[in-house]
Amino acid sequence: MLAADNFRYKGVPFPKKSHSEESIDFAENVFPVLDDDIFNITYPKSGTNWMIEILNLIKNKGDITLSNQVPIYMRSPWYESIGSNEQIQTLTRPRIISSHLPIQIFAKSFFNSKAKVIYTMRNPKDIFVSNYHFAKIISLFKQPESLQSCLEEFLQGNVIYGSWFDHVKGWLQMKDDDRFFFITYEELLQDLRGCVVRICKFLGQELDDEAIDLVVKHSTFKSMKENKMSNWTTMPDDVMDHSKGSFMRKGVSGDWKNHFTVAQSEYFDKIYQEKMRDFNFKFFWEEN
Ligand code: A3P
Repeated sequence: MLAADNFRYKGVPFPKKSHSEESIDFAENVFPVLDDDIFNITYPKSGTNWMIEILNLIKNKGDITLSNQVPIYMRSPWYESIGSNEQIQTLTRPRIISSHLPIQIFAKSFFNSKAKVIYTMRNPKDIFVSNYHFAKIISLFKQPESLQSCLEEFLQGNVIYGSWFDHVKGWLQMKDDDRFFFITYEELLQDLRGCVVRICKFLGQELDDEAIDLVVKHSTFKSMKENKMSNWTTMPDDVMDHSKGSFMRKGVSGDWKNHFTVAQSEYFDKIYQEKMRDFNFKFFWEEN
């Protein structure tokens, strides 16, 4: 979905309300990445907040204090958005920083650093459905007209942060790099504990079994939905209309089946195959 008011930076649409030419230019060309930074990178609605919760809990060895005190969107700010730099200055190290930027406009200083990226992906049909509902409650977005028109926009990449296909193909160019770890929302759903263990290993964080259990316990859908610092209910009403729905909506895989007609699903598959034809990579959702 596009925002109510957008601008393009190097061809990629961004919402004017939360981003500016200067904020993205700063993110791309000026932001000083530190060697111990951990970047939580996603295409929107792929599980960004879930990963914020997991990574901060790992950093704090399962201690829930931070998650109970600080709204999730302030724990690991999106460094490309307006005003985020001040928030990032207050983070303790290693900083956990979120971003939706496609790789071609990501921080130049990252590529000469030892900083790490965790890239979370999700079945794009479910991303689309999650975003379709999210757009109805967030004032930032142009209100969706119909599912079909939104679907066209999504598949053409005429949406904020640009094409899902370009985002995933771009970031997966780093898949063999030691600083890059990729995971899917579906894997997190299937085996959260196993994923937490793998993430700890990637980050070089040694947590005992008890601490890992705590990370898992506090990052389930139920725990996050019940935690007012994680469920986005702290967002002011003029930004998020809480009467129309909730950020922690369903937290499942395959909800697209409740939204797409057979024709829409087939159309999606056709475009997906065209766009991914030359990309030699098997995604989790293609196999299951
Ligand atoms: P749904 O709208 O399908 O429920 P993002 O954080 O990238 O904006 O993604 C939001 C999506 O992640 C929403 O999906 C939300 O419910 C889901 N989500 C957030 N925390 C989750 C958790 N602990 N377990 C499962 N899904 C979660």
